[in-house]
Amino acid sequence: MQKNDEFASKGAAFEASEDVPTNTNLANTFGKIAERRYGRRDVMRGALGLAATTALSGTLGTLGGIKTAEAADGRYVWTEIEHGVDETHHVAPGHTADILIRWGDPIFADSPEFDPMKQTAAAQARQFGYNNDFLGYVGLPFGSDNPDNGLLCVNHEYTSEEVMFPGIGRQDNKGFPDMTAELVDIEMAAHGGSVIEVKREGEKWSVVKDSQYNRRITANTTYMELTGPAAGHDRLKTSVDQNGTTCIGTFNNCAGGITPWGTYLMAEENFHGYFGGAVDGHPEERNYKRYGVPGGWYAWSKYHKRFDINAEPNEANRFGWVVEVDAMDPTSTPKKRTAMGRFKHEGAEPIVNGDGRVVVYMGDDQRFDYVYKFVSERRYNPDDRAANMDILDDGTLFVARFNEDGKLDWLPLIYGSGPLTAENGFHSQADVVIEARIAADLLGATPMDRPEDIDPNPQTNKVYVMLTNNSKRKADAVDAANPRGPNDFGQIVEMVPPNGDHDALQYTWDLLVVAGDPSKPEVGAKYHQATSENGWFGSPDNCTVDAAGRLWISTDQGSGWSKTGNADGLYGLETEGEMRGYSKMFFRTPIGAELCGPRFTPDVKSLFLAVQHPATDGTKDFPGFERNSTFEDPATRWPDFTEGMPPRPSVVVVRKDDGGEIGT
Ligand code: FEO
Ligand code: CA
Ligand code: CA
Repeated sequence: MQKNDEFASKGAAFEASEDVPTNTNLANTFGKIAERRYGRRDVMRGALGLAATTALSGTLGTLGGIKTAEAADGRYVWTEIEHGVDETHHVAPGHTADILIRWGDPIFADSPEFDPMKQTAAAQARQFGYNNDFLGYVGLPFGSDNPDNGLLCVNHEYTSEEVMFPGIGRQDNKGFPDMTAELVDIEMAAHGGSVIEVKREGEKWSVVKDSQYNRRITANTTYMELTGPAAGHDRLKTSVDQNGTTCIGTFNNCAGGITPWGTYLMAEENFHGYFGGAVDGHPEERNYKRYGVPGGWYAWSKYHKRFDINAEPNEANRFGWVVEVDAMDPTSTPKKRTAMGRFKHEGAEPIVNGDGRVVVYMGDDQRFDYVYKFVSERRYNPDDRAANMDILDDGTLFVARFNEDGKLDWLPLIYGSGPLTAENGFHSQADVVIEARIAADLLGATPMDRPEDIDPNPQTNKVYVMLTNNSKRKADAVDAANPRGPNDFGQIVEMVPPNGDHDALQYTWDLLVVAGDPSKPEVGAKYHQATSENGWFGSPDNCTVDAAGRLWISTDQGSGWSKTGNADGLYGLETEGEMRGYSKMFFRTPIGAELCGPRFTPDVKSLFLAVQHPATDGTKDFPGFERNSTFEDPATRWPDFTEGMPPRPSVVVVRKDDGGEIGT
């Protein structure tokens, strides 16, 4: 693993942890397959996007010339903002972006006001957490599509000590000399999630602080239940939980999902980063090495023994799951659904299949890791909420193999089937889900370019996979679905279930876009040719489909934003018809931030966006600043711009000035 001090920010360090492929099972890389499917010349000259994408190639081949702006816009009708980077956010003209809630803002009637100079863990546990990522919306009352009042479910992925705490700077690259027990507890309280009631009155949204629904979920105060096939297994038992069924907290919750029965799925992503200790000779050595445990990004193991893998050998097996939270009941116990597998879960977006089964699409965000789906055994019952509450405990986990002929096989992770036997270290389904990555290696899944968010479009049943980038893919190890090596800018793969059947074992797939600057032939990017010089993007990360069926993409370039010269942002991307592959920029973040969580209200008149880690990533390349940010000296003080106030991750809500639907 690379040393921490090579990285300019915590975010960069996280990126780099994803940069260390732990999948050593790359014999199945599909470079040869790509060659067979498309021909070696196409692969080598980067023409793959064209050859692979029938709709795209048709469009590109027949469009002939640039259309007028109105005709080209199709379903994406706004004046595009320009690429660039500066201290603040930008939204398309005719829209307004208001700050809804910031790190530290009170979320209960009795929460203390935020004071960054005197922060405490107790105060943080009553305030909005750090680094907002996933955003979900559940209309109130439950079952309504109320666009003006609902619950916002928010993940707080990680913390950035150098801009959170006065006087200490980066700590993870020098052994945490200034991290105290209290600072660690503040970090733990700033992780997890928030459920907050939000309401629109006139044009303005606000947080309902005395709502009966509001809750904070943290890494250190929220008890959770482990359920499903691994619950109670010896490998989940610890000195404080000898039953292997109860766990304290959740952390590094990245993207997620909202179920039709009003629960909120929190995906645990880079859990490895919170553990310390030595892995050589450890009883879980094979497992932990494949997952990068221990990562040592935080000082938690100095003050809480459970994060030391030598003191508490199984604690790291209790993270890396999908956590299900009943958004309607703030006293409910969140449940870690082990049937859905243990990996670096980016998101967990469900769809109800035609036969009533619930299918959840999930990415494992690391270079050369995999795309998964979970198919429930039982059927969703729209008339009986209680009957759905544990539906995610029983079902089958599958991993994807993208074949050369444009077909995609879903390979089941079932104990006793194929190689998932005692011979390979699997003695039960618990072992299979705990070491889902190793099971998927053995099944021959396709190693992907960092699978991030995956969203189905309920109107078309097509499913969109964000593949963010992969600096480690070699030019001779490309394949049809991952056509560039190294891959600085990512791509979006479209998966198509036959007849819209998400339970099918075989889909077809295609490349929707290959990201990066399409005007530079050496980049090999592919978009619809009407995409402007401001419309292309790098590193797709989160996505959402609005009620009109339009796909929206938010980006996370990390410290690599200087390769595009453009801060992260939100883009509308056409998926259908002759404009397929047309992309257009809508929103831009301040310097050092990534954009997460895009979520529309059901009427498409409000759009919630999560601006994560402002002022941290890549500030050495920010003209005029050219140094790393600290609490005292940040690259931006967004969104307050008040002397002494650090930058604050915040949720933004966008509306159209004329009261109409966003982007129309
Ligand atoms: Fe937390 Fe993969 O982004
Ligand atoms: Ca993400
Ligand atoms: Ca990311």
